[in-house]
Amino acid sequence: ADVKKIAVIAGDGIGPEVIAEAEKVLKKTEEVFGYGFETEHGLFGGIAIDEKGTPLPQETLDLCKKADAVLLGAVGGPKWDNNSKELRPETGLLGIRKALGLFSNIRPAVIFDCLKDASTLKPEVLEGTDLIVVRELTGGIYFGEKLRREGAHGEEAVDTCVYNVQEVERIVRQAFEIARTRRKKLASVDKANVLETSRLWRETVNRIAPDYPDVELEHVLVDNCAMQLLRRPSSFDVIVTENMFGDILSDEAAMLTGSIGMLSSASLGEGAFGLYEPVHGSAPDIAGQGVANPIATILSVALMFRLTFGYHDAAEAIERAVKEVLDAGHRTGDIAVDKSKAIGTTAMGDLIVNAIRK
Ligand code: NAD
Ligand code: IPM
Ligand code: MN
Repeated sequence: ADVKKIAVIAGDGIGPEVIAEAEKVLKKTEEVFGYGFETEHGLFGGIAIDEKGTPLPQETLDLCKKADAVLLGAVGGPKWDNNSKELRPETGLLGIRKALGLFSNIRPAVIFDCLKDASTLKPEVLEGTDLIVVRELTGGIYFGEKLRREGAHGEEAVDTCVYNVQEVERIVRQAFEIARTRRKKLASVDKANVLETSRLWRETVNRIAPDYPDVELEHVLVDNCAMQLLRRPSSFDVIVTENMFGDILSDEAAMLTGSIGMLSSASLGEGAFGLYEPVHGSAPDIAGQGVANPIATILSVALMFRLTFGYHDAAEAIERAVKEVLDAGHRTGDIAVDKSKAIGTTAMGDLIVNAIRK
């Protein structure tokens, strides 16, 4: 049989807690659908700094490179927050994305009807919200030259934002293609009234837009987009934007779904290989308590099945199981209206696993 290799890197904080539930889901899909998965674990993030002296050990990177897909938890925590750049968990995260060529980060924000009361927004505003943020992931200010220097008024810091045409074109084309399979609307988000990189971005979008005449394109300035996401979320279909804007807007979009604990993501390059991780971080404030919402990570497994393996039946089964459990009223603390009735991470994972069927 065709056994898929999955590199599992749980990371720090709630990372291992939510990954454990996703691994149960993998096991259950093997049983129900007969697919074969071989998982191998790697050290990554703060725990890798502690044990190997670097956030992204070579052996972990090698493990990912020989896998068909990577499942990642989250990294970071107060313990490493004052470390130098090379010894920060987040540097490992940027390093793995770059090393694996994962320039495209897909972050769907879909509202489950029964969770409308979990959002801080009014239910009627959320009605029909189903959008995808396509975030450029290996360029921009995250990867430009950084320095510290002595300036005329003391110490200065510099972060450089760089984009070339090829980097913009490949992510924008991917976003147009995704829009084509959906409601055929693309919002390109930039700050072209101020930034040179944004002007290059917008010129590039306009140059390739004629190749996608069936997709309705709008340019939205990022500050306005942040506002429109709260004002008219259901009018967005696909949003494409540069690295840092996408980071910020996707956390904002998470609240449309009720919680950052609901938002899954796929990071892709040119081929089928992908890295799958929840949008949220290591949540040090709740780590170790067994209360984290595992749904973002479980839905990331569904994305893996769909986008890397083409296992559409299993992907749908997972999404159906999540919906069924939520419809039945089960909630982790982050999405519970009545917090006294909230269930924990493993209880939520078990309910979803039990609801997976053909
Ligand atoms: P965070 O996403 O970890 O947490 C923000 C808030 O959301 C917290 O109150 C947290 O308790 C809550 N939350 C997050 N995930 C949740 C879940 N699954 N269930 C319930 N509640 C959840 O963001 P932060 O606090 O800004 O960052 C904490 C650390 O995580 C930092 O070190 C940061 O660099 C790192 N981080 C890592 C990733 C990643 O690994 N991809 C992403 C974001 C942040
Ligand atoms: C994310 C995170 C990371 C990012 C950090 C931890 C480097 O916020 O995956 O969204 O900014 O990309
Ligand atoms: Mn983020």
